[in-house]
Amino acid sequence: MARRRMVYEGKAKILYEGPEPDTLIQYFKDDATAFNAEKRDVIEGKGVLNNRLSEYFMTGLNGIGVPTHFIKRVNMREQLIRAVEIIPLEVVVRNVAAGSMSKRLGIDEGTALPRPIIEFYYKDDALGDPLVTEEHIIAFNWATQQDIDDMIALALRVNDYMSGLMYGVGIKLVDFKIEIGRIFEGDYQRLIVADEISPDSCRLWDIESGKKLDKDVFRQDLGSLADAYTEVAKRLGVMPRVGNVATGPKLVN
Ligand code: TMP
Repeated sequence: MARRRMVYEGKAKILYEGPEPDTLIQYFKDDATAFNAEKRDVIEGKGVLNNRLSEYFMTGLNGIGVPTHFIKRVNMREQLIRAVEIIPLEVVVRNVAAGSMSKRLGIDEGTALPRPIIEFYYKDDALGDPLVTEEHIIAFNWATQQDIDDMIALALRVNDYMSGLMYGVGIKLVDFKIEIGRIFEGDYQRLIVADEISPDSCRLWDIESGKKLDKDVFRQDLGSLADAYTEVAKRLGVMPRVGNVATGPKLVN
Protein backbone atom coordinates (compact mmCIF):
# COMPACT_ATOMS: atom_id res chain seq x y z
CA MET A 1 0.00 0.00 0.00
CA ALA A 2 1.34 3.42 -0.90
CA ARG A 3 2.35 5.56 2.05
CA ARG A 4 0.02 8.53 2.38
CA ARG A 5 1.30 12.06 2.40
CA MET A 6 1.38 14.01 5.63
CA VAL A 7 0.19 17.58 5.09
CA TYR A 8 0.64 19.04 8.58
CA GLU A 9 1.53 17.94 12.09
CA GLY A 10 0.28 19.93 15.06
CA LYS A 11 0.51 19.38 18.80
CA ALA A 12 -2.52 17.09 19.07
CA LYS A 13 -3.38 16.13 15.50
CA ILE A 14 -1.89 15.16 12.14
CA LEU A 15 -3.42 15.94 8.75
CA TYR A 16 -2.92 13.57 5.82
CA GLU A 17 -3.93 13.96 2.20
CA GLY A 18 -7.50 12.69 1.76
CA PRO A 19 -8.91 10.20 -0.74
CA GLU A 20 -10.73 12.86 -2.82
CA PRO A 21 -9.73 16.37 -3.89
CA ASP A 22 -10.42 18.96 -1.19
CA THR A 23 -10.50 16.36 1.57
CA LEU A 24 -8.06 15.49 4.35
CA ILE A 25 -7.75 12.77 6.96
CA GLN A 26 -7.46 14.21 10.48
CA TYR A 27 -5.64 11.92 12.94
CA PHE A 28 -6.03 12.49 16.71
CA LYS A 29 -2.86 11.88 18.71
CA ASP A 30 -2.68 11.00 22.41
CA ASP A 31 -0.28 13.89 23.02
CA ALA A 32 -1.39 16.56 25.48
CA THR A 33 0.33 19.92 25.71
CA ALA A 34 -0.31 23.07 27.70
CA PHE A 35 1.23 26.53 28.13
CA ASN A 36 2.43 26.57 24.52
CA ALA A 37 3.85 23.06 24.82
CA GLU A 38 5.98 23.83 27.90
CA LYS A 39 4.06 21.04 29.63
CA ARG A 40 3.56 17.81 27.71
CA ASP A 41 2.52 14.21 28.23
CA VAL A 42 0.96 11.30 26.41
CA ILE A 43 -2.51 10.42 27.69
CA GLU A 44 -3.44 6.96 26.49
CA GLY A 45 -6.84 6.99 24.81
CA LYS A 46 -7.20 10.80 24.55
CA GLY A 47 -7.04 10.75 20.75
CA VAL A 48 -9.77 8.13 20.54
CA LEU A 49 -12.02 10.11 22.88
CA ASN A 50 -11.48 13.42 21.09
CA ASN A 51 -12.06 11.84 17.68
CA ARG A 52 -15.43 10.51 18.90
CA LEU A 53 -16.41 13.67 20.76
CA SER A 54 -15.48 15.99 17.91
CA GLU A 55 -17.45 13.73 15.55
CA TYR A 56 -20.44 13.93 17.89
CA PHE A 57 -20.40 17.73 18.25
CA MET A 58 -19.71 18.47 14.59
CA THR A 59 -22.37 16.00 13.39
CA GLY A 60 -24.87 17.79 15.63
CA LEU A 61 -23.78 21.18 14.34
CA ASN A 62 -24.05 20.04 10.71
CA GLY A 63 -27.52 18.73 11.58
CA ILE A 64 -28.77 22.12 12.75
CA GLY A 65 -27.25 23.93 9.78
CA VAL A 66 -24.00 25.18 11.30
CA PRO A 67 -21.47 24.22 8.63
CA THR A 68 -18.37 22.30 9.73
CA HIS A 69 -15.48 20.55 8.02
CA PHE A 70 -16.56 17.13 9.35
CA ILE A 71 -17.56 14.52 6.75
CA LYS A 72 -17.28 11.15 8.52
CA ARG A 73 -15.24 9.21 11.03
CA VAL A 74 -13.13 6.54 9.38
CA ASN A 75 -11.70 4.70 12.36
CA MET A 76 -10.90 5.08 16.06
CA ARG A 77 -8.43 7.87 15.56
CA GLU A 78 -9.22 9.36 12.16
CA GLN A 79 -11.91 11.34 10.44
CA LEU A 80 -12.47 12.52 6.89
CA ILE A 81 -12.78 16.29 6.71
CA ARG A 82 -13.08 19.00 4.08
CA ALA A 83 -9.86 20.81 3.37
CA VAL A 84 -10.18 24.48 4.30
CA GLU A 85 -7.97 27.52 4.33
CA ILE A 86 -7.63 28.09 8.06
CA ILE A 87 -8.08 31.68 9.24
CA PRO A 88 -5.10 32.23 11.58
CA LEU A 89 -7.26 33.09 14.58
CA GLU A 90 -8.50 31.22 17.63
CA VAL A 91 -12.06 32.29 18.30
CA VAL A 92 -12.86 32.01 22.01
CA VAL A 93 -16.36 32.32 23.45
CA ARG A 94 -16.77 32.77 27.21
CA ASN A 95 -19.94 32.35 29.28
CA VAL A 96 -18.22 32.35 32.67
CA ALA A 97 -14.95 34.04 33.66
CA ALA A 98 -12.02 31.61 33.80
CA GLY A 99 -8.52 30.99 32.52
CA SER A 100 -6.61 33.79 30.84
CA MET A 101 -9.48 36.28 31.06
CA SER A 102 -9.72 35.90 34.84
CA LYS A 103 -5.97 36.31 35.10
CA ARG A 104 -5.71 39.27 32.72
CA LEU A 105 -8.63 41.24 34.15
CA GLY A 106 -8.62 40.05 37.77
CA ILE A 107 -12.14 38.63 37.57
CA ASP A 108 -12.78 35.67 39.87
CA GLU A 109 -13.03 32.31 38.14
CA GLY A 110 -16.66 31.27 38.07
CA THR A 111 -18.13 34.76 37.70
CA ALA A 112 -21.08 34.50 35.29
CA LEU A 113 -20.80 36.94 32.39
CA PRO A 114 -23.82 39.08 31.48
CA ARG A 115 -23.53 37.91 27.87
CA PRO A 116 -21.15 35.70 25.92
CA ILE A 117 -17.83 37.43 25.32
CA ILE A 118 -15.98 36.68 22.09
CA GLU A 119 -12.23 37.09 21.81
CA PHE A 120 -9.77 36.55 18.97
CA TYR A 121 -6.24 35.25 19.42
CA TYR A 122 -3.68 35.36 16.63
CA LYS A 123 -2.39 31.84 15.95
CA ASP A 124 1.36 32.15 16.29
CA ASP A 125 3.20 29.82 18.67
CA ALA A 126 6.34 31.97 18.61
CA LEU A 127 4.28 34.90 19.95
CA GLY A 128 2.27 32.72 22.36
CA ASP A 129 -1.05 33.25 20.50
CA PRO A 130 -1.65 36.88 21.57
CA LEU A 131 -5.10 38.40 22.10
CA VAL A 132 -5.90 40.73 19.18
CA THR A 133 -8.66 43.19 18.35
CA GLU A 134 -10.77 43.47 15.19
CA GLU A 135 -8.56 46.43 14.21
CA HIS A 136 -5.48 44.19 14.15
CA ILE A 137 -7.32 41.48 12.22
CA ILE A 138 -8.35 43.88 9.48
CA ALA A 139 -5.13 45.91 9.41
CA PHE A 140 -2.97 42.81 8.97
CA ASN A 141 -5.33 41.12 6.52
CA TRP A 142 -5.97 38.02 8.61
CA ALA A 143 -9.69 38.39 7.83
CA THR A 144 -12.13 40.99 6.52
CA GLN A 145 -14.88 42.78 8.45
CA GLN A 146 -17.38 40.48 6.73
CA ASP A 147 -15.37 37.43 7.86
CA ILE A 148 -15.33 38.77 11.42
CA ASP A 149 -19.11 39.25 11.39
CA ASP A 150 -19.53 35.71 10.02
CA MET A 151 -17.09 34.27 12.59
CA ILE A 152 -18.98 35.92 15.44
CA ALA A 153 -22.30 34.57 14.14
CA LEU A 154 -20.86 31.05 13.78
CA ALA A 155 -19.23 31.17 17.22
CA LEU A 156 -22.49 32.24 18.91
CA ARG A 157 -24.42 29.45 17.19
CA VAL A 158 -21.82 26.92 18.31
CA ASN A 159 -22.09 28.36 21.82
CA ASP A 160 -25.87 27.99 21.93
CA TYR A 161 -25.73 24.44 20.59
CA MET A 162 -22.88 23.28 22.84
CA SER A 163 -24.25 25.04 25.95
CA GLY A 164 -27.64 23.34 25.54
CA LEU A 165 -26.13 19.95 24.85
CA MET A 166 -23.88 20.17 27.90
CA TYR A 167 -26.59 21.58 30.16
CA GLY A 168 -28.70 18.51 29.31
CA VAL A 169 -26.03 16.25 30.85
CA GLY A 170 -25.32 18.42 33.89
CA ILE A 171 -22.28 20.22 32.53
CA LYS A 172 -21.68 23.97 32.30
CA LEU A 173 -19.96 25.13 29.12
CA VAL A 174 -17.68 27.76 30.66
CA ASP A 175 -15.79 28.68 27.50
CA PHE A 176 -14.39 27.15 24.33
CA LYS A 177 -12.16 27.82 21.35
CA ILE A 178 -12.94 27.12 17.72
CA GLU A 179 -11.02 27.57 14.53
CA ILE A 180 -12.69 28.60 11.31
CA GLY A 181 -11.75 27.92 7.71
CA ARG A 182 -12.66 29.19 4.27
CA ILE A 183 -14.01 26.99 1.52
CA PHE A 184 -14.45 28.12 -2.04
CA GLU A 185 -17.52 27.20 -4.06
CA GLY A 186 -17.30 28.66 -7.55
CA ASP A 187 -17.04 32.42 -7.19
CA TYR A 188 -18.14 32.32 -3.57
CA GLN A 189 -16.34 31.65 -0.32
CA ARG A 190 -17.95 30.44 2.85
CA LEU A 191 -16.69 30.13 6.42
CA ILE A 192 -17.10 26.81 8.23
CA VAL A 193 -16.11 25.43 11.64
CA ALA A 194 -12.85 23.45 11.36
CA ASP A 195 -10.17 21.82 13.56
CA GLU A 196 -11.84 20.07 16.51
CA ILE A 197 -14.37 20.60 19.27
CA SER A 198 -13.42 18.47 22.27
CA PRO A 199 -12.61 18.75 25.99
CA ASP A 200 -9.13 19.85 24.82
CA SER A 201 -10.65 23.08 23.53
CA CYS A 202 -13.50 23.70 26.01
CA ARG A 203 -13.88 24.35 29.71
CA LEU A 204 -16.51 22.02 31.11
CA TRP A 205 -17.57 22.11 34.77
CA ASP A 206 -19.93 19.66 36.43
CA ILE A 207 -22.94 21.77 37.40
CA GLU A 208 -23.50 20.03 40.78
CA SER A 209 -19.94 19.72 42.07
CA GLY A 210 -18.00 22.23 39.97
CA LYS A 211 -15.58 19.43 39.08
CA LYS A 212 -13.48 20.19 35.99
CA LEU A 213 -13.96 17.76 33.09
CA ASP A 214 -11.64 19.34 30.51
CA LYS A 215 -7.96 19.97 29.73
CA ASP A 216 -7.56 22.07 32.90
CA VAL A 217 -7.33 18.65 34.65
CA PHE A 218 -4.01 18.26 32.82
CA ARG A 219 -2.96 21.93 32.95
CA GLN A 220 -3.52 22.05 36.73
CA ASP A 221 -2.65 18.42 37.65
CA LEU A 222 -6.11 17.69 38.98
CA GLY A 223 -6.16 13.93 38.28
CA SER A 224 -6.76 11.64 35.33
CA LEU A 225 -7.48 13.47 32.08
CA ALA A 226 -8.69 10.27 30.38
CA ASP A 227 -11.19 9.71 33.22
CA ALA A 228 -12.51 13.28 32.87
CA TYR A 229 -13.00 12.97 29.08
CA THR A 230 -14.53 9.51 29.51
CA GLU A 231 -17.04 11.01 31.95
CA VAL A 232 -18.06 13.61 29.34
CA ALA A 233 -18.35 10.92 26.64
CA LYS A 234 -20.41 8.64 28.89
CA ARG A 235 -22.84 11.37 29.89
CA LEU A 236 -23.41 12.25 26.24
CA GLY A 237 -23.91 8.58 25.35
CA VAL A 238 -20.88 8.67 23.08
CA MET A 239 -18.95 5.38 23.09
CA PRO A 240 -20.65 3.86 26.15
CA ARG A 241 -18.10 1.02 26.34
CA VAL A 242 -15.44 3.65 26.39
CA GLY A 243 -13.25 1.82 28.89
CA ASN A 244 -12.61 -1.01 26.42
CA VAL A 245 -12.34 1.15 23.35
CA ALA A 246 -10.10 3.83 24.78
CA THR A 247 -7.48 1.46 26.08
CA GLY A 248 -7.62 -0.97 23.16
CA PRO A 249 -7.97 -4.74 23.23
CA LYS A 250 -6.91 -6.60 26.33
CA LEU A 251 -5.39 -10.06 26.38
CA VAL A 252 -7.93 -12.50 27.74
CA ASN A 253 -6.89 -16.00 28.80
P1 TMP B 1 -7.84 30.69 27.95
O1 TMP B 1 -8.69 31.06 29.12
O2 TMP B 1 -6.56 30.00 28.33
O3 TMP B 1 -7.61 31.86 27.03
O4 TMP B 1 -8.65 29.62 27.10
C1 TMP B 1 -9.94 29.89 26.60
C2 TMP B 1 -10.53 28.63 25.97
O5 TMP B 1 -9.79 28.27 24.82
C3 TMP B 1 -10.51 27.40 26.87
O6 TMP B 1 -11.72 26.69 26.68
C4 TMP B 1 -9.37 26.58 26.39
C5 TMP B 1 -9.26 26.95 24.94
N1 TMP B 1 -7.89 26.98 24.46
C6 TMP B 1 -7.50 26.15 23.41
O7 TMP B 1 -8.31 25.39 22.89
N2 TMP B 1 -6.22 26.24 22.96
C7 TMP B 1 -5.30 27.07 23.49
O8 TMP B 1 -4.16 27.08 23.03
C8 TMP B 1 -5.70 27.90 24.58
C9 TMP B 1 -4.72 28.85 25.22
C10 TMP B 1 -7.01 27.84 25.01
